[in-house]
Amino acid sequence: MTDANREPHWETVYTTKGEHEVSWFQENPAPSLELIDLARPTPESAIVDIGGGASRLVDSLLARGFRRVTVLDISQAALETAKARLGERATEVEWVVADVTKWQPARTFDIWHDRAAFHFLTDPADRSAYLACLQQAVRPGGHVIIGTFAIDGPEKCSGLPVNRYDAASLAKELGEGFELVDSRRQDHATPWNSTQRFQFCILRRTG
Ligand SMILES: C[S@@+](CC[C@H](N)C(=O)[O-])C[C@H]1O[C@@H](n2cnc3c(N)ncnc32)[C@H](O)[C@@H]1O
Repeated sequence: MTDANREPHWETVYTTKGEHEVSWFQENPAPSLELIDLARPTPESAIVDIGGGASRLVDSLLARGFRRVTVLDISQAALETAKARLGERATEVEWVVADVTKWQPARTFDIWHDRAAFHFLTDPADRSAYLACLQQAVRPGGHVIIGTFAIDGPEKCSGLPVNRYDAASLAKELGEGFELVDSRRQDHATPWNSTQRFQFCILRRTG
């Protein structure tokens, strides 16, 4: 996928499909919340959800009292869906429409969360740009949580090819300066009850 057709792809997805018509829909983002807990956050921890889309993770974070939540996505329509669902509470969130491979974060975060966005970056140059952004955005001692399709997970997501990872290969992508804290596999049930194998990792920025 080229830079130019990435945004139209996702805008089409979110303007033509309902919440329950996308494979990644999750009523309860429990796997993400478990790993966020491992980072021992406080209500003041700054958390960014990269490629957050219309995910309900932001609802759970606000319900848990987090006050510095940012949701970034390439699709404006996805963020509008999340905002509409949250109603007045949407004003408590910072919403960023951006391609993460081009984003220039204005400040640092304690927790970087990404469920099923990084795995679309099949071009090494895009992964380098993502990692450069991540390094700018995550403070030393901060945590990175990334969920991708597992090695034995699907080869495509939303009709696009993905890279699949295990904990070792994902940690290798992040490279020196990040230590693997924990990892787990998760079987995600799509709205039509097929199973997608995910790999989640939490890493700590050491340097
Ligand atoms: C499979 S969906 C997952 C959405 C959400 N994280 C969840 O768990 O429900 C992938 C999301 O990543 C977003 N995305 C894909 N490439 C992106 C990029 N380069 N920059 C920012 N967002 C991107 C898409 O718009 C979409 O919302």
